[in-house]
Amino acid sequence: MKAFVTGGSGFMGSHLIEALLAEGVEVFALLRDPRKPGWLQGLPVNVLEGNLFSLPPLPRDLDTVFHLAGVAKTSREADYYTVNHLGTASLLASLESRGLKPCFVYVSTTSAGGPSSGGTLRHESDLPSPVSPYGRSKLLGEREALRRSRSLPVTVLRPGFVFGPRDKDFLTLLKIIDFGFIPLLRGIPVRASAIYVQDAVRALLRFLRPPVRSGEIYNIAASPPLELEAFSRTLAALLGRKAKAIRLSRRAAGLFTAAAGLASRIRGARQSLNSSFTREALHGDWAVDVNKAARELGFRAATPLDEALAETVAWYRLRGWLNSPATSPPGRGPT
Ligand SMILES: NC(=O)c1ccc[n+]([C@@H]2O[C@H](COP(=O)([O-])OP(=O)(O)OC[C@H]3O[C@@H](n4cnc5c(N)ncnc54)[C@H](OP(=O)(O)O)[C@@H]3O)[C@@H](O)[C@H]2O)c1
Repeated sequence: MKAFVTGGSGFMGSHLIEALLAEGVEVFALLRDPRKPGWLQGLPVNVLEGNLFSLPPLPRDLDTVFHLAGVAKTSREADYYTVNHLGTASLLASLESRGLKPCFVYVSTTSAGGPSSGGTLRHESDLPSPVSPYGRSKLLGEREALRRSRSLPVTVLRPGFVFGPRDKDFLTLLKIIDFGFIPLLRGIPVRASAIYVQDAVRALLRFLRPPVRSGEIYNIAASPPLELEAFSRTLAALLGRKAKAIRLSRRAAGLFTAAAGLASRIRGARQSLNSSFTREALHGDWAVDVNKAARELGFRAATPLDEALAETVAWYRLRGWLNSPATSPPGRGPT
């Protein structure tokens, strides 16, 4: 089997490619700069130099295109639309103009659907109401894919927040907790659907063969959703910290993330906390229903949360990304 992966140098893409290789799939990875293969360094993949707007020649017998390339964190709002919307449109148009009809999997996000309200879970069929430029741009990307669902077998996956080894955004939360604080919103319980990266990869692997129905959207996340306070306390215990909950007003939380974002910008670091993130975070409830994926794909996120977190924290420690010493068994060990 042959798969083409965009975004393979990144967090999720690199885990996906490792899993594809383990399944014996021949992998073609789009890299903007082959001198910066990121997490793909040393893996037996066919590197194709190019980008979403200038695609290199592709094998004609591709089984699946996994489209993960995207911008989730940037200070330039236009970049979200350029890459997530127009980049997706350009990729699809290139496949079309070459007469290629592989199974096309667009990795979107629960941000495209928007937050939940009134303590309910958001379903795939609910009217989308994204609240951030990231979410809006990913929704536009989804629409580009879905409008071709009669000519290609297309699936849109909406993972909740994905965590696991290699992810730098989750590291930001861990570092705040490691510092001794649990940031919460005053008067608003924060909930989010999340998924361990290895579970998200298992969902993706199902699309090495065409889906039963083209044009479907699936939320993929562990169930039940995480309550931020309880989740953060579990993390604090894993880190061996007595972290203190800080309940910020919406205004203070906005100012805090803006200041943190500015600091990252000045340092030239990844902007995990930025205005798009803030707009989402202040909504508080990002819980989704995952029964459609269970019913139609037979997919459920299987890794127990404590195991997934222990593996993730152990990996960060091994890389020296966290300072606090180990206080609990590191699960199955770092990957
Ligand atoms: N992480 C999460 O919590 C999460 C949750 C839900 C959905 N998602 C979605 O999952 C996908 C992967 O996320 P991630 O966290 O793995 O992201 P990531 O680590 O930031 O990786 C992003 C990837 O996209 C590539 N890319 C960016 N702009 C590109 C362009 N113009 N042309 C070609 N490639 C480009 C990057 O390549 P370079 O190495 O060249 O920069 C990198 O390989 C994204 O589409 C994101 O929206 C992520």
